[in-house]
Amino acid sequence: MEKLVIEGGVPLRGELKISGAKNAALPLIAATLLAPGTHVLYNVPNLRDTRTLLKLMEELGCSYEYNGSLLKVDTTIINHSEASYELVKTMRASVLVLGPLLARTGAAKVSLPGGCAIGARPIDFHIKGFEHLGAVCKLESGYVEASISDRLVGNTVYFDIPSVTATENLLMAATLAKGITVIKNAAREPEIGNLIDMLISMGAEIEGKDSDTITVHGVRHLHAAENRIIPDRIETGTYLIAIGATGGEATINNCCPAHLPALLEKLREAGFTILEDKHSLHIRSPRSAEGKLHVMHTNITTRPYPGYPTDLQAQFMALMAISDGASIINETIFENRFMHVAELCRMGADIKVDGKTAFVSGKGDTGLLGAPVMATDLRASSSLVIAGLAASGKTCISRIYHLERGYENLVEKLTGLGARVWKER
Ligand code: EPU
Repeated sequence: MEKLVIEGGVPLRGELKISGAKNAALPLIAATLLAPGTHVLYNVPNLRDTRTLLKLMEELGCSYEYNGSLLKVDTTIINHSEASYELVKTMRASVLVLGPLLARTGAAKVSLPGGCAIGARPIDFHIKGFEHLGAVCKLESGYVEASISDRLVGNTVYFDIPSVTATENLLMAATLAKGITVIKNAAREPEIGNLIDMLISMGAEIEGKDSDTITVHGVRHLHAAENRIIPDRIETGTYLIAIGATGGEATINNCCPAHLPALLEKLREAGFTILEDKHSLHIRSPRSAEGKLHVMHTNITTRPYPGYPTDLQAQFMALMAISDGASIINETIFENRFMHVAELCRMGADIKVDGKTAFVSGKGDTGLLGAPVMATDLRASSSLVIAGLAASGKTCISRIYHLERGYENLVEKLTGLGARVWKER
């Protein structure tokens, strides 16, 4: 199995380009199922997760051409309506085909994702939403089977918690429903805005983009269209933190700073200088009078957008592990998202966890020391990469297939910033 080896201690410098967002590409690819024809998507990141979804699209009967970041999906034929356990167990977001398949073909069968490394992650909101639109949903042999006799019918649906993929799934289903659907307490992540723009370009009638109440006026048919995936805000945030943790200074291009309000605020609080343009960011690390990296401690609490993203919690913890002073990190979205703590502690970090709260005593000047560590999920893995880049000595990260799910050309991008990092068998 491949490992990632990092010789830490090199301040990252230079420029880097951000790829398209994984969590926007997945719903946008799924949305192509809503209308027959050839859909064109630009800026699609080449990741394990996007390739998994394309494999599922093929199993459903669709075909595609994928060149660079340009993806053409032909959804003229759908002759199968099942997402198997084999695929869903490798990527929970496969559940995103449920809404569009149900709306277009009247039936869909998707394996229940089950728990994962970061929490139980049920899909009850998705199912409740489809039932409110008139679908009959049953759970059988580990699968959710949803069907409708005629057409979905619009209704008001309220989510207890703003769920990203439940909002996306219901939104897609509602575009072809009869009448009006109102989604209350909807998630407001930028990826949902990207999906709404795509659905509108396909002929959907939707109001309330970027708000927690989304209204969909159902239409009879949608048509294929061309759309662009937004820049990956989590990839952007990960590199910002990595550059900062190494005491570097660099420019990040092809990104959207407006999608990272909470992280930018927190990095500034920690002492970093950040200059923003519409599509680029420049970060400069704070230094003490002796010229050493001097990061101030700061607290974070993860929240739905525009709050601090849970997908950047693990990375920020790696930064706080080398700050001066004590920080508190509250994880309010997922119940088991501290798997990286034990691994960071193997590198010398001083972190204690009590329920949903982590107490980080920054090591300041002492820093972290490279060690063999294990990746447990996508974002936990990127926190170990950041710790490895900041640490002195060698860090060897195993199970890096997690990283390949969500970071395009990670080694190339880091090497381009001067990092000493490579893969080894
Ligand atoms: N929830 C339920 N029932 C549901 C759906 C969600 O109880 O039916 C709960 C979850 O257990 C969680 C909360 O609601 O406590 C919010 O979860 P959400 O549904 O928003 O998460 P998701 O849609 O499954 C997406 C991203 C995740 C990201 C979360 C939170 C995609 C494909 N995935 O997941 O991304 O962490 O939103 O922002 O968009 C990642 O990229 O590494 C990743 C895990």
